[in-house]
Amino acid sequence: MSKRVLVSGGAGFIGSHVTVELIEAGYDVVVADDFSNSDRTCYDGVRKITGREDIPLVEMDFCDLEATRKLFSDYAIDAVIHFAAFKAVGESVAEPVKYYSNNLTSFLNVIQAGRAAGCKNILFSSSATVYGEPDTVPVTEKTPRKPATSPYGNTKQMCEDILRDSVLAYKGLRGIALRYFNPIGAHPSALIGELPRGVPNNLVPFITQTAIGKRECLSIFGDDYPTPDGTCLRDYIDIVDLAKAHVYAVRRMLDGRMEEDYEIFNVGTGRPVSVLELVNAFEKVNNLKLNYKFAPRRPGDVTAIWADPTLANEKLGWKAERTVEQTLASAWAWEKHLAGK
Ligand code: UD1
Repeated sequence: MSKRVLVSGGAGFIGSHVTVELIEAGYDVVVADDFSNSDRTCYDGVRKITGREDIPLVEMDFCDLEATRKLFSDYAIDAVIHFAAFKAVGESVAEPVKYYSNNLTSFLNVIQAGRAAGCKNILFSSSATVYGEPDTVPVTEKTPRKPATSPYGNTKQMCEDILRDSVLAYKGLRGIALRYFNPIGAHPSALIGELPRGVPNNLVPFITQTAIGKRECLSIFGDDYPTPDGTCLRDYIDIVDLAKAHVYAVRRMLDGRMEEDYEIFNVGTGRPVSVLELVNAFEKVNNLKLNYKFAPRRPGDVTAIWADPTLANEKLGWKAERTVEQTLASAWAWEKHLAGK
């Protein structure tokens, strides 16, 4: 019998791509989402891509403990992947209580309700933000975490700790935290992708919206960083590659192959790319000119961070495969799909 995976936040950007990969790998999936930062578009896209009309969708808020308990009793869940969380760095600085309350409560409820229902496998969606401004790059999982620079980042660190402590305390529970670098792009079908609300904070949605004419001009934040071309360096990871890492991690858990009951993996390419390089690659692969200008640094940005993905390569057997060009072409195809072009 196939194993069933609960994907909290399964209608969101990462959750929808993970749902596709899980289904294609033969897992049963239950999608749960409150649609606070998503809508049915990606859920419908997932059904189209997989040809599965019957993917259960539960509309609920994981801050509601009773609803979370009910979900775990309605479905026998073998593993949960927890994405449901707020994710805007700037907003978290302005509204810390909203972020701490939502991101911590929902995760605590998942652990609590899951445990009561006998679900022993929890995968947490963490972020490279936990490394802050690292002293050395690339970062390995052993690179010390720095104090978080935003309440959002702090919730990622705190949830990692909550998972680690829970695994230590509750016998039989296993946890994996995946630390994502910068997920970008869209599914090659252009049926699912990122759906930012309002003005995008992240680079690639801002690029694609500028190219389509929704935004006038991209501001490149800072051209005086101590990097080869003066712009920041990041590790941009294709969303489908990133989604596949979850399948490998879930399989490792469910097959009982974990070496420790709590494991952490970087999910990145190991390849630093500057903001300017990314913009140039976008123009080249999509054969267009982007309106951009240099602007002052954005407060809170780190100069350079990229992953050492060796651990995930070796232990999960996973490796990022798509090129930045392929990924940027997929991001543009998705933006055009949204615009009906
Ligand atoms: C941010 C978050 C990270 C989160 C990720 C989600 C921090 C410090 N950062 O990463 O936790 O997981 O988003 O994808 O917590 N840029 C521009 N112009 C723009 C937008 C961005 O030049 O209009 C530059 C930024 O200065 C940065 C790079 O592009 O150098 C990437 O920015 P962004 O996409 O926002 O991601 P991060 O800040 O790296």
